[in-house]
Amino acid sequence: MSSADRYAVFGHPIAHSKSPIIHTLFAEQTGERLTYTAQDVPPETFETEVRAFFAGGGKGLNCTVPLKELAWKIADHRSQRAELSRAVNTLALRPDGTIYGDNTDGIGLVRDLTVNLGLTLKGLRILLLGAGGASRGVIKPLLEHGPAHLVIANRTPEKAFQLADEFGDLGLIKGCGFSDLGTESFDLILNATAASLAGEVPALPKNILQTGGYCYDLAYGSEPTPFVLWGRDAGAAVSVDGLGMLVEQAAEAFQIWRGIRPETRPVIDALKSREH
Ligand code: ATR
Repeated sequence: MSSADRYAVFGHPIAHSKSPIIHTLFAEQTGERLTYTAQDVPPETFETEVRAFFAGGGKGLNCTVPLKELAWKIADHRSQRAELSRAVNTLALRPDGTIYGDNTDGIGLVRDLTVNLGLTLKGLRILLLGAGGASRGVIKPLLEHGPAHLVIANRTPEKAFQLADEFGDLGLIKGCGFSDLGTESFDLILNATAASLAGEVPALPKNILQTGGYCYDLAYGSEPTPFVLWGRDAGAAVSVDGLGMLVEQAAEAFQIWRGIRPETRPVIDALKSREH
């Protein structure tokens, strides 16, 4: 009998990654025979480690912070969404030995918002906090769902202007600094800054969240993130972290590798119950 196909996630740090549990649960559910491990890989040795992994029989990799831009560079072919986000979170070895790169973060977020949380994005006023790699990856999938408009706010306003310019032809989009946020309120506020990692929340004006609006932190943690707590305090109808997005982006990666999309709901529920 042939050995199980090998997959892994590379990141730095990686110790707390939930990806091995998620993919192991997917494999059990679908009956696919595979192993999935986590490997701490610093940027300096990333390319060597990727080539060694594939040369040693590995079939696919996920890449997380801070390796997504490097993964984009290493890919021989890329999906259109990976090109737009200039970041890759999924690498797959093709039969001809070349490496394919895709980015499933944006679709993962949109599926969590629309399928799991039941939101209709069409017509919503959306505020996206942050203008780094995490924001770049989700802008196009959000715009495709027809929001009324999308404002990108960032601590360094120039980066928000630049990002809005870049995606400007796709729809109604504007960049600004946090201090430019005035009296306008939003139906959905997404936090794609790294502020949660520092235990902080971007400084936002009072009443920026429409009564009964939604808050979503792309980061996740075993405790509610500072932004999730901020959202609850601001009166959000729903204020959640990015656990659902994590599972959804993983399901998309699993499909790219195995040609089968696992069910995400039981895996999200299993992860939530492990936290308590
Ligand atoms: P990622 O790939 O996770 O998006 P990144 O490209 O380094 O990481 O971007 C980090 C984002 O978080 C940026 O938008 C950054 O704002 P600046 O562009 O002004 O640096 C934002 N960020 C990081 N720490 C923050 C904090 N404490 N408050 C607000 N924004 C913060």
